[in-house]
Amino acid sequence: MKRVFSGVQPTGNLHLGNYLGALKQFVELQEDHECIYCIVDMHAITVPQDPKVLKTHILDVASLYLAVGVDPKKSIVFVQSDVPGHAELSWVLTCCSYTGELSRMTQFKSKSHNKESAPTGLFSYPVLMAADILLYDTDVVPVGTDQKQHIELCRDLATRVNNTRKKTFVVPEGRYLKEGARIMALDDPTQKMSKSAENIHSRISLLDDPAKIKKSIMKATTDSEGVIRFDQENKPGISNLMNIYSVLSGKSIAELEKEYDGRGYGDFKKDLVEVTVEALAPIKERFDEIRYSDDLIRILKDGAARANVIAEKTMARVKENFGLGL
Ligand code: AMP
Ligand code: TRP
Repeated sequence: MKRVFSGVQPTGNLHLGNYLGALKQFVELQEDHECIYCIVDMHAITVPQDPKVLKTHILDVASLYLAVGVDPKKSIVFVQSDVPGHAELSWVLTCCSYTGELSRMTQFKSKSHNKESAPTGLFSYPVLMAADILLYDTDVVPVGTDQKQHIELCRDLATRVNNTRKKTFVVPEGRYLKEGARIMALDDPTQKMSKSAENIHSRISLLDDPAKIKKSIMKATTDSEGVIRFDQENKPGISNLMNIYSVLSGKSIAELEKEYDGRGYGDFKKDLVEVTVEALAPIKERFDEIRYSDDLIRILKDGAARANVIAEKTMARVKENFGLGL
């Protein structure tokens, strides 16, 4: 069975982009893969975090994993900092990476706002991500397309180590969904939907109530043409809404174009509100059941113990191949 690894940062409640770009794949893959899903809290501290808020977000994200259908009987679910191998391997890989290749990462460039001095953690973030993946001999990494560059770096690091030392790592593949792979912000469809954008109406969080969902969708930026046609380049707003509608309802873009032929954006948005509220209701219900139950902590502790068994084996091989330790 092929092994899958992925992670999400506990930096806020998950939104539709996280769900459609990443979590939906997590659930599908667990049927015929050995899956490991992580809450990457060490990635979260690359920007300042209030400790209390971070702790809350860790448990929220873990609950959302379970609420969307990640099954702890099938998959390992755990918190990154509970397994020491991530930090250990990250240092080893840091010593195999170059400042040049890390400077080229677009996420670093945008998060550091091209300033001359930026937090070192932001800079080496992709190396920690590579460590997450390589620590588990991962074959497949399901992520949104925004992570493509980081996955390529991970593959480069693995290949570099394998070619210059004994074969140490499995070289993983990224797995990107075509539809829904990149959900854009509702207020500005040229930007991706993100947890950290200031305007709460730029995103739909998985825990938003129906009134908030309605407000955000009805306010969403479209264009003045008033025709419901998919055209990412010239009509990014309505195309993004059609994309969301399509993945949530299972209707194809062509079907939607036909169904809404001759109708206005108002009609379309009203229906999209309904589709979205319906899709998110069961997630919210399961979240409420799990979030404050004893099961949650038990599942995460058990997950960390199982992850650690795999991680320790990889670290023993890494140390041996690098000549580290006794
Ligand atoms: P993050 O919120 O950056 O921790 O991302 C967690 C996962 O969600 C990653 O696999 C991302 O690629 C994915 N993701 C984040 N934002 C979006 C988006 N707007 N559209 C699609 N996928 C996304
Ligand atoms: N960098 C990813 C993001 O921002 C999160 C992440 C960290 C991740 N480690 C990972 C994703 C390992 C996949 C595999 O979305």
